Amino acid sequence: MLSAVGPSVTVRVPAKINLHLAVGELRADGYHDLVTVFQALSIVDEISVSAAVPGAIEPGVAVTPTDGVDVDDVPTDTSNLAWRAVEALARRADRDPDVRVRIRKAIPVAGGMAGGSADAAGALLAAAGLWRLDLGRDDLMEIAADVGSDVAFALHGGTALGTGRGERLVPVLSRHTFHWVVAVADHGLSTPTVFGELDRLRARPEAPRRVGDVEPVLEALASGEAHSLALLLGNDLQAAAVSLDPGLRRTLRAGVDAGALAGVVSGSGPTCVFLCDGHDAAVRVAAELAGFGVCRTVRVAHGPVPGARVVEGDGPP
Ligand code: C5P
Repeated sequence: MLSAVGPSVTVRVPAKINLHLAVGELRADGYHDLVTVFQALSIVDEISVSAAVPGAIEPGVAVTPTDGVDVDDVPTDTSNLAWRAVEALARRADRDPDVRVRIRKAIPVAGGMAGGSADAAGALLAAAGLWRLDLGRDDLMEIAADVGSDVAFALHGGTALGTGRGERLVPVLSRHTFHWVVAVADHGLSTPTVFGELDRLRARPEAPRRVGDVEPVLEALASGEAHSLALLLGNDLQAAAVSLDPGLRRTLRAGVDAGALAGVVSGSGPTCVFLCDGHDAAVRVAAELAGFGVCRTVRVAHGPVPGARVVEGDGPP
């Protein structure tokens, strides 16, 4: 779009949850091999990338909260993952990252829902459109995977099986829409700290039990049966997140007491997500859970939803 001051492209990009997250051993490069099933949820950040204009639009990052999200801990310097994505793309295109990235944040920060990765994916797609780069989806996926483990899924969206660091993706057939209640904590958890805590717990004699095979989860998704999927939700990082933040046990119990089919910590937490038997049930569970005082905010969401999409301005050709 040509605005009064210059061109700009706006992208919407969803949060993710992990329906299944099996964590392997620590690798030599500091990462863990994963087998995970991602689902993109209808909690969406909006990222606009505008050409910098001397004296009017400065290069850099600005973040605005929506839906009561706390953005105090989101960096607005070059360490912001969206900025790092723009820099990676600029290097690939052999040009300066002379843009302003505006992020309207609805995805909880440091919540285990890949909000930073979503912003990186959004910035990638928007900058590629703004600069009219001749890059296909595969090129963007490759750059995304270098920027962070969850960035590729934020581009991809839907429901997908992730392996490697989580960046190798295969689409998963998921029939029907699933309805979720999302319990947002009043603080964040650092992803590396949670992975480190899992390594520590696993080194002890009474190591936490690991999640089962992924195949039954894929079958439940294909059947579209929320009740079947509820029995199979599992996350190896949950024990580590609960060990660091024991209050999560109460949150998980409260969601089920409120009528959810099942609950699980999302990714590295501390956000907890609860699968419900339809939209109306989710609204009822959310209202009840909000009254328990076990989290900062409660949201209703559904999935799967598409990955990063241009909503204003031009996308990549
Ligand atoms: O890739 P990303 O920057 O999102 O990962 C953040 C941190 O989470 C990594 O530095 C690593 O400590 C941990 N991590 C991991 N195994 C993965 C993904 C992330 O140990 N598969």
